[in-house]
Amino acid sequence: MDKKLDVYRRELVDVQGVPLFWSTAEQWSQVESFESRPDDLLISTYPKSGVEELKKMQPPRLVKTHLPVQLLPSSFWKNNCKIVYVARNAKDVAVSYYYFYQMAKLHPEPGTWEEFLDKFITGNVAFGSWYDHVKGWWEKRNDYRILYLFYEDMKEDPKHEIQKLLKFLDKDLSEETVDKILYHSSFNVMKQNPSANYSTVPDFDMDHSVSPFMRKGISGDWKNQFTVAQYERFEKDYEKKMKGSTLWFRSEI
Ligand code: A3P
Repeated sequence: MDKKLDVYRRELVDVQGVPLFWSTAEQWSQVESFESRPDDLLISTYPKSGVEELKKMQPPRLVKTHLPVQLLPSSFWKNNCKIVYVARNAKDVAVSYYYFYQMAKLHPEPGTWEEFLDKFITGNVAFGSWYDHVKGWWEKRNDYRILYLFYEDMKEDPKHEIQKLLKFLDKDLSEETVDKILYHSSFNVMKQNPSANYSTVPDFDMDHSVSPFMRKGISGDWKNQFTVAQYERFEKDYEKKMKGSTLWFRSEI
């Protein structure tokens, strides 16, 4: 049997109630016992919330996760590591995730947009429910050293958000260096950068002809994807799921 069939488009595996890739589930005990260092910086996002640029920063060690808060290896809490969480509005994440599911074959088949949207709403996608993810991390932000950022703010005023990040990291950089960060983390520059755009990953893992990894990089693209009926259903369900939370998103800028 073709080995690729064993690897690609496999169903997700339930780990403590959260659907994860089979490969992550197989190594779960190693993930759980990951030993962080107190000077590690953790970048946490729900998938498709766009923080690749942070990978390029100098040490301290940078660790990236998509895990929901309850599955984070406990040593990060024990060591009180600094954590940067980036959240993006649900409708844009759903659309971006749909295209990513199509191009990145580690995911199960996405089905039609309508079918995928159902999976997104019910949390039956890799890393589980967006709603639980963003709320879970939001609730932890005052108890630990968590900087909670929004994709929409980064799009609107990247300099301001980078300055927030630098303050959180106790870094004082020259204006010139900040400008360089701004340049290299802009969508158009990252789209051309092979170390950020995943173009070096073989086509059979990620097929950029189906959809490029750096796809549109805008806020409000959901308007090109949702039908009016889908929008109405989504919003009704959203209100129920986000009720009682002080967390608030902008769906366009
Ligand atoms: P779109 O599919 O809406 O274009 P992740 O890195 O978590 O997989 O998220 C990928 C999403 O973030 C994609 O969204 C991608 O285009 C967007 N993204 C990545 N880097 C970006 C940047 N520098 N500026 C704006 N959007 C960016």
